[in-house]
Amino acid sequence: MQEQKIIQVKDKTFAVSIPESELKQQIKRVADQISSDFAGQEPVFLAVLNGSFIFAADLLREIDLHCEISFVKLASYQGTSTTGTIREVIGLNFDITGRPVIIIEDIVDTGLTMAHMLDTLKGHNPASIDICTLLLKPTKLQVKLDVRYCCKQIPDDFVVGYGLDYDGFGRNTKDIYTIV
Ligand code: XMP
Ligand code: MG
Repeated sequence: MQEQKIIQVKDKTFAVSIPESELKQQIKRVADQISSDFAGQEPVFLAVLNGSFIFAADLLREIDLHCEISFVKLASYQGTSTTGTIREVIGLNFDITGRPVIIIEDIVDTGLTMAHMLDTLKGHNPASIDICTLLLKPTKLQVKLDVRYCCKQIPDDFVVGYGLDYDGFGRNTKDIYTIV
C-alpha cells in the first residue's frame, strides 16, 4: 500500500487529494480544449495572482496558440452590501479592447470573485471573456457563473498546494492537499 502523504501548514494538517500526475493530465486536457476552441485567434490570458501562478505557468506551456499573458491582483476590502468582502481588480495595465480574454484562476468557491471580475473586465470591451479555473467547488457556488474551463471539481473542503495557500503558506507543493 502506498504511504499517505501528509503535510503540516501552520496549525493545520493536510493530506494529498490530487496528485501531481492527475493535475498534469487535467491541465493538458483543458489546454488542448482551449487551443482548439481559440484556433486562429490571439487570446490574452489574465492570470489572477497570487494563487494561480503555478497553474498559469503549467497551463501556458501546454497552449498551442499565438497568445499573450498578463497578471492581475485582487485587493480585498469589506463591502457594505450583502455580498460581504468585495475584491477589486488591480494591475490591469494591459489593453484588452477587442481581444478574446481567458481568465486563469486557482479556485472558484462562491463565485463572487469571478462575477465581480467579469463585471470589471466587461467595462474594457474585450471581444469575449471566459473563465479557466484549476478547481471548482460546485456545491458552494452562490451566483450564476459560466465556468467554461475547469480542470477538476472538488468537494467543499479547504485545499492547499500547487499555488494555493493557507494563510500565505503551503503554496510550494507539487500535489494538492485537503485539510484533514
Ligand atoms: P470566491 O468565493 O469568491 O473565492 O469564489 C475564490 C477565492 O477564495 C479563495 N479560496 C481558497 N483558497 N483554498 C485556498 O487556498 C481553498 O480551498 C479556497 N477556497 C476559496 C481563493 O483565494 C479564491 O481565489
Ligand atoms: Mg485566488
